[in-house]
Amino acid sequence: MRIYREKDYDAMSRRAAAVIAAQVVSKPDCVLGLATGSSPVGTYKQLVQWYKQGDLSFAGVRSVNLDEYYGLAPDHDQSYRYFMQASLFDHVDIKPENTNVPDGLAKDPAAEGERYEKLVAELGYADLQLLGMGRNGHIGFNEPGDHFPVITHLVDLAQSTIEANSRFFASADDVPKQALSMGVGTIMRARRILVVVSGEDKAEAVYKAVCGPVTPEVPASILQLHPDVTLVGDESALSRLTEAGV
Ligand code: F6R
Repeated sequence: MRIYREKDYDAMSRRAAAVIAAQVVSKPDCVLGLATGSSPVGTYKQLVQWYKQGDLSFAGVRSVNLDEYYGLAPDHDQSYRYFMQASLFDHVDIKPENTNVPDGLAKDPAAEGERYEKLVAELGYADLQLLGMGRNGHIGFNEPGDHFPVITHLVDLAQSTIEANSRFFASADDVPKQALSMGVGTIMRARRILVVVSGEDKAEAVYKAVCGPVTPEVPASILQLHPDVTLVGDESALSRLTEAGV
């Protein structure tokens, strides 16, 4: 695992954007696996800036997002489709038909999981998968449990995730209780993985993911078994690793 220790959120975002830009420049028709949430917002901002300066084009890029809240329409302002449009897709030259997010309104979520998994497989899985990490060590919406879910599936969100994400909703009661998420298997099939983490509240999860045992109780710990992972964090998120001498 390659670890970049950056001084703050902005430096973390620039570093992560540079890794993504290098991927897009070296393979313009690459498949990017994308994430939502607070962690990648600065990364997307930087990519948009480079696109506007004429330094980067997404014209050939295909994208697959990690997850979507179950029950939210694409135009709901807290849906992950909406987030991706507002943070990246509407501001760069990626072709709308080349962007993919699970359908939060699918009547049959099991069938939607299968459809999405097939789509990701047909694209050949991600060349580069961007991930954030939950405070409980989740990746995508694969919550701590007794096994690693393999393919895209319907997830019951952990209470701690609902509380963490309630900052985007009027109240915790408004946060959807379920989501469609790529499985850990889908994520691990990406050829490269880029994880962005910032803030003290992630320090313990980051430490367990990097130094602890590989266990479904800390889903991100499975990344220890992937051959090409880059972790980019700010000093606070990496503080427990620093204390441990990593
Ligand atoms: C988002 C996702 C989640 C987030 C994680 C961290 O698509 O799959 O795993 O990456 O919950 O969220 P933030 O970045 O908001 O702390």
